[in-house]
Amino acid sequence: MQTATTLEVLRSAVDQLRAGGKRLALVPTMGALHEGHLTLVREARRHADAVAVSIFVNPKQFGPNEDLDAYPRRMAADCALLEAEGVELLWAPGVEEMYPAGFSTTVSVAGVSDGLCGAARPGHFDGVATVVLKLFNQVRPDVALFGEKDWQQLAVIRRMARDLDLVRPHVEAIVGVPTVRETDGLAMSSRNQYLSPAARAQAAALPQAMREAIAALAAGSAAAPTLAALEAHLLQAGFDSVDYAALADPLSLAPLDTLGDAPARLLVAARIGGTRLIDNMHVGPTGKPE
Ligand code: PAF
Repeated sequence: MQTATTLEVLRSAVDQLRAGGKRLALVPTMGALHEGHLTLVREARRHADAVAVSIFVNPKQFGPNEDLDAYPRRMAADCALLEAEGVELLWAPGVEEMYPAGFSTTVSVAGVSDGLCGAARPGHFDGVATVVLKLFNQVRPDVALFGEKDWQQLAVIRRMARDLDLVRPHVEAIVGVPTVRETDGLAMSSRNQYLSPAARAQAAALPQAMREAIAALAAGSAAAPTLAALEAHLLQAGFDSVDYAALADPLSLAPLDTLGDAPARLLVAARIGGTRLIDNMHVGPTGKPE
């Protein structure tokens, strides 16, 4: 695996990997890699001849009171995992390389960025969209893969890719990869390691409560009482607070009052033991594209 920390080295590595019309996939990450990221890498391999992974803890997507400094950084362990997966290229720029002095551009995707996590974390999706557009321009991948665990992030990136004509010829496809879960159903996340053993055990209530809510919605319950019951379940199970629980259109993320014939998404963010966990699940008919 070649590691690039400067744009100059990255560009020549990318040129070599793309020589002869070879296809390149990009898996953007912030490191602290776990099985969920490795699933993205394996899926990337199915779409391309070579796989590039970026590791960059993006300061622009953290709010002033968020966990930027505490965010886990484990470059040596991450490199070993990527080497074992046969990744061809690691792009690991420093903050100065990504945002040189005088950097003053922000990409903002209105609408889909505004509610849910966007309401709780003002500016977060501007930071995500800005860095992802830069990563696309830097690596010029044919395909880029993102976890469905961050469903709103995926919706923001898809909207940006459509609005800014990135999808062809720049990035042929944005691929969403289903969430990888622990055996008790908790969605894998780099932030799970912040949980104490007690909070980690209680956190399994999140996917359980969501599955119960999905069963209720499928049986005809309206969204409002179902989401209120979901919140009550989480608080009773030991969660400190619920930022939001929403039934939404999967693409626009507009809230829905009831489950209709079309696919919908159940999205939740809740805090336990000082850690904010998010999860989302498909609701409604299977097999219909979202
Ligand atoms: O999902 C993440 O890890 C980050 O938000 C991303 C997409 C790498 C942008 O910094």
